Amino acid sequence: MPQESIPELARRGAASVHESFSAYQAEFDHVTRRARHRFELRDWRGAHQDAVERLALRPRWVARALSDLLGVLGPAAADPLLRERMKAEYERELALRPDPEIARTFYNSVTRRSFGTVGVERRAEFVAGEAEPRAAPPSAPIFLAYEREGTTEELVARILRDFAFSVPFRSLERDARLAAVELDAHLASTRGWADGRPQFDRIEMLRSVFFRGKGAYLVGRIRHGASASPLILPLLHGEGGVYVDAVLLSHHDASIVFSFTRSYFHVEAECPSALIAFLKSILPQKPLSELYIAIGHNKHGKTMLYGEMVEHLAQTRDRFELARGDRGMVMIVFTLPSLDVVFKVIRDRFAPPKEATRQEVMQKYALVFRHDRAGRLVDAQEFEHLAFERARFSPEVLDELFREAGETVRADGDQVFIRHLYAERRVTPLNLFIREKDEWTARDALLDYGQAIRDLAATNTFPGDLLLKNFGVTRTGRVIFYDYDELCLVTDCTFRDLPRARDDEDETSGEPWFYVGENDVFPEEFLKFLGLPDRLRGAFVSAHGEILTADFWRRMQASHHAGEIVDIFPYKESRRLQRR
Ligand SMILES: Nc1ncnc2c1ncn2[C@@H]1O[C@H](COP(=O)(O)OP(=O)(O)OP(=O)(O)O)[C@@H](O)[C@H]1O
Ligand SMILES: [Mg+2]
Repeated sequence: MPQESIPELARRGAASVHESFSAYQAEFDHVTRRARHRFELRDWRGAHQDAVERLALRPRWVARALSDLLGVLGPAAADPLLRERMKAEYERELALRPDPEIARTFYNSVTRRSFGTVGVERRAEFVAGEAEPRAAPPSAPIFLAYEREGTTEELVARILRDFAFSVPFRSLERDARLAAVELDAHLASTRGWADGRPQFDRIEMLRSVFFRGKGAYLVGRIRHGASASPLILPLLHGEGGVYVDAVLLSHHDASIVFSFTRSYFHVEAECPSALIAFLKSILPQKPLSELYIAIGHNKHGKTMLYGEMVEHLAQTRDRFELARGDRGMVMIVFTLPSLDVVFKVIRDRFAPPKEATRQEVMQKYALVFRHDRAGRLVDAQEFEHLAFERARFSPEVLDELFREAGETVRADGDQVFIRHLYAERRVTPLNLFIREKDEWTARDALLDYGQAIRDLAATNTFPGDLLLKNFGVTRTGRVIFYDYDELCLVTDCTFRDLPRARDDEDETSGEPWFYVGENDVFPEEFLKFLGLPDRLRGAFVSAHGEILTADFWRRMQASHHAGEIVDIFPYKESRRLQRR
């Protein structure tokens, strides 16, 4: 066979990756589009299967793209000139796509594997800081605009009619009326009234509906001059039809809907960058990385997170420091003081009583990735083969990494290479929060901790290790869980009542005098180990005493065995529109 020239190989290699990407994206869109039908049919189990199916698509397509690419390139794959050329060819191919940034990230995933890249190879892959690709514009405007005409009630009714489903609203007029009351009250307090009406220019609603769990969310913004504030209408589909469940209008409420502790939305996004720009206008605090992750482009979100980190390192003199709080027995956790992210490296060995292997720990993180995170489990991004300048680490971090994670971390000259880590949002560890805040704030957090355990139980998650140090408090004041090595499904545990002591000797013995199976859990013992501060223990027990009984957990198990799917909504019960 005649040898192909480098330009020819590069062209064919790029075309091959592009073809895989197109096929992957088409399948991603296909699964995403199903969400509407699931909602209309109230097929929650199907919706859940779709979510799991969609998460598995990318790894499968990357693997396929990789084997196709290697088939095209053959031994020439190692040629640096070819790689450089191929990247340029690929870039040319993307010119007409509305989603070039997603395509670039896909390319990196494939070629990093084929070239075995460690650190970053500027010439061969798309790197942070490189000019953002120009996306071809979407084929239709991404939002519908509603001018301020007539009453607010009429306006809301118009919106709801435009977003009609194949099943009717229970009572569109009633929903419009209830929603308008909320909207008017909010507008009156934030913008004031003039000529008998609230002041704003218009409302813009994204055409794409955001689906997740049992909810369908209409997402929009209220424009007034240059300002934009969120308007989110969560819709549910109950027995008698679809209805508006709440009206979310504050940045705080909107931010919780798009939280990093939630599973990813299924939302059609022909041009993701346009959708993201819209979201950013109502969620200015959220990093772009998290917004991409929220709409299911989690790998691109991860790329952006890496970019944010690189930029941060370039713009500050920050060094990686150990994270505040108790040391982990499984993880070494470090952070950059002025970036809201922590990095977790798995230790080579775990001291007793930890018995898990590295593999098992990683499986737990993978389980959380697929599971409903219910607004209570932090999303972790997995990174491989990172390289940083050695000078950017504090001596404590370096010392601990080399000493305890030598299988994952190595130094070479002035570089430190990290084979594997998880990155996740930094929160305030709950043990520190409760120690440092005033009594009322601490009490609220402790009560929300109980609610977090309930929410997790309702979605079939048992955290395993309930100590306060494994929970944290987010910027919006919500308590979430981040330590996954002992996490398991509620249905995989055996919740037992504590056997009654047979005599005094049993009572006082430090060791259990009854047989304890591997998966046995004794909820009545939780309180003994939690070490809750005395001043708060009473409040916790009166609000959440149930959690401390095996009965509660067995009821949860029964509900999961019966196939019930519980959706934990991203807004408070008190925000729900009153229904009779
Ligand atoms: N997302 C986060 N934000 C802030 N701090 C964190 C975060 N994740 C972990 N930490 C800090 O790092 C410590 C160890 O993390 P983590 O609990 O995940 O590790 P671990 O080794 O599994 O712990 P354990 O020994 O309890 O099993 C925590 O106690 C906390 O202080
Ligand atoms: Mg921990």
